Amino acid sequence: MRISGRTRTYGILGYPVSHSLSPVMQNAAFGQMKFDAAYLPFEVRPEDLRAALDGIRALGVAGVNVTIPHKEAVLAYLDDVDPEAAAIGAVNTVVNRDGRLIGYNTDGAGFLAALRSEARFAPKKRNVLILGAGGAARGIAHTVASAGAASLVIANRTVSHADLLAQGLSHHFPYLKVRTCELNPAAMEPHLASAHLVIQTTSLGMKPTDPSPIPSKLFRKDHVVCDIVYTQETPLLKAARSRGVKVSGGLGMLVHQGAAAIFLWTGRRPNLNVMKLALVAGIRAKSARKR
Ligand code: ATR
Repeated sequence: MRISGRTRTYGILGYPVSHSLSPVMQNAAFGQMKFDAAYLPFEVRPEDLRAALDGIRALGVAGVNVTIPHKEAVLAYLDDVDPEAAAIGAVNTVVNRDGRLIGYNTDGAGFLAALRSEARFAPKKRNVLILGAGGAARGIAHTVASAGAASLVIANRTVSHADLLAQGLSHHFPYLKVRTCELNPAAMEPHLASAHLVIQTTSLGMKPTDPSPIPSKLFRKDHVVCDIVYTQETPLLKAARSRGVKVSGGLGMLVHQGAAAIFLWTGRRPNLNVMKLALVAGIRAKSARKR
C-alpha cells in the first residue's frame, strides 16, 4: 500500500478494536480495487465517541465502520440516519458526505446476501427461528422481517429479553407473527418442526467445546441453518451438516456487510473472494499466535 497526499482515510471505531479483522479485509478490498485508500483501527472509549465523530469531520475521514460497543450510541452524533438503520437502532457504517455524517446498517443486507449466495435461500414467506435476542439478533430479525418472513420465533436464555425484542418487532411489523421461547431443545422442538430457517446469533459456539444448542436429531434436510460466529464452524453448524442440512457460517456475512460498506463509500463493488481470502488468512494468523 502506498500512502500519498491524496490517500483517503477509512477505519473502524470500536472498543476494544485490536481483535478486529476488518482492517485486513477492507484493505485487501481497496488494494484489489486499486483505490487509493487506507483503512485503520480506531480504538475509541465510549466517553470519547462524540469527540471521535467530530474528529472524523475535522480530519475529513471519508467513512468508518462501527462495532461493539458503539453501534447504538453512535446514532446520537450523526447528522442523518438511513431509515432501516434507524428502525434497527444500530449503525455499522458511517459515510462522510462533505462533512455530514450519515449512518447506515449493512449487517442485514450482508446477512441476506450471504444467505442467498451460500444457501440459495430467501426468507420471504418462510418461518424463521432466531437464537438470541441481543444487538445482532435485533438487526437480523428486522432484516428477515423486512424481507417478508411469514413468522419469527425468538429463542433466548433470558426470555424477557426475547419478549422485549418481539414487542419492538410487532410495533414495526404489525402483521408479522412473532413468538418467543426458552433457548433449550425441548422449548425449541415444536418451532423447529415448522421452521425453514434457523439463525444462531449468540456467542455460543465461539469456543469449540461449547455444546450445540440444538441436537442434530432435531434437524430436517430442508432446514437452512446460519450462524453468525465466523472464527470456525460452530458445533451447531456441524450438527446440522451431519444431517445433510444446508449451512451458512458468519464469514460470508462479514464479507458481504464489509462489501456493502465499501459500496456506500465508493459506489464500487469490491471483489468478495479477495476479502474472504484475506479474512481466512487473518483468522489463521490469529489462531497461530494463540497457540
Ligand atoms: P450481540 O450484540 O453480539 O448480539 P449482546 O447484545 O450482548 O451481543 O447479546 C448477546 C446474546 O447472546 C443474548 O441473546 C444473550 O442471552 P441473554 O439475553 O440471556 O443474555 C446471548 N448469550 C450470551 N452468552 C450466552 C450463553 N452462554 N448461552 C446462551 N446465550 C448466551
